[in-house]
Amino acid sequence: MAKILVTGGTGYIGSHTVVELQQSGYDVVIIDNLANSSEKIVEQITKITGIKPEFHKMDLCDRNKLFTFFENNKDIKGVIHFAAYKAVGESAEFPLKYYYNNLFSLVNLLEAMQKAECNNLVFSSSCTIYGQPEELPVSENAPIQQAMSPYGNTKQISEEIIVDQTKTSSLHAIALRYFNPIGAHKTALIGELPLGVPNNLIPFVTQTAIGKREKLRVFGNDYNTPDGTAVRDYIHVVDLAKAHVVALERMSSKKSESKFEAFNIGTGNGNSVLDVILTFEKVNNLKVNYEIVERRAGDVEQVWANTDKANKVLGWKTELGLDVALQSAWNWEKNLEKGILE
Ligand code: WQD
Repeated sequence: MAKILVTGGTGYIGSHTVVELQQSGYDVVIIDNLANSSEKIVEQITKITGIKPEFHKMDLCDRNKLFTFFENNKDIKGVIHFAAYKAVGESAEFPLKYYYNNLFSLVNLLEAMQKAECNNLVFSSSCTIYGQPEELPVSENAPIQQAMSPYGNTKQISEEIIVDQTKTSSLHAIALRYFNPIGAHKTALIGELPLGVPNNLIPFVTQTAIGKREKLRVFGNDYNTPDGTAVRDYIHVVDLAKAHVVALERMSSKKSESKFEAFNIGTGNGNSVLDVILTFEKVNNLKVNYEIVERRAGDVEQVWANTDKANKVLGWKTELGLDVALQSAWNWEKNLEKGILE
């Protein structure tokens, strides 16, 4: 079985991708510094697949440890790189924390991969790099706009670093530009695990519904959208995880058309904040206490993916809809309430 390194593999998207990799027959090794996740997720993954992934608690910014890891693991055939800080608001407050962590860890990883002659990289990128696109749905050749946050800027710079490395080495890379990942595995044994007050919409919705939060604030209903609330492309995290396996297989079977490729990984549909709330209430048969408040600084009005390239070139498309994703998010929240990770 080909051995794959997943950095950030105990995180939200990382853990779901480890499950899909294992179930596709890969031997998975996780490196994670647990800054934004729990080692208990390794047990949860094992409960789902019956296979315990090898786990190393390690910070990718620790060059020596990372180089030693690759020297001791010469059979790694590819890397899926999730490990990074990803809170937009926090990045505006602590930019250097984001530039240091997200960029220095990537450079270390690329150098260690080059030394180990490990040449296949799937990179976790984001639709944030498009800012507010002039044209919707947004396609991969849309202009990359000035990032609206240091977090988004680290994703833009990371893609540029990877492109330059593919030009001067044997590295092949695929950047997957995520839209808005939501939901949880159907077993409700893994899911989104925000530490502290959630920044993202769905965990705030589920925590309000379960009574951990008094009410959800809807950031603005004066946008130029059908119901005035902002529109996003919400994609089930399991569909997103599967895209990583497809991307890896594209490179390992030498199907890549160039040494760097980028794909939008979204559903191709836009839903407003109120759409999401009303759908969540309907599919879970409950009410969410919310209040419309002023807009959140840095938010774009509306963005959703043109998925033609992912569908036709990568050969991947979403299979799970918004309702299934919102049901799974609620099932996961109920499990958290029952102390599943305690
Ligand atoms: C979605 C919508 C909010 C919370 C961010 C990152 C992106 C990616 C996904 C990492 C917006 C509204 C939210 C709340 C609300 N992360 N909202 N009340 O900002 O689209 O994208 O997360 O890759 O890079 O930028 O996601 O979930 O924060 O917000 O009304 O309490 O929900 O205004 O319209 P966002 P989000």
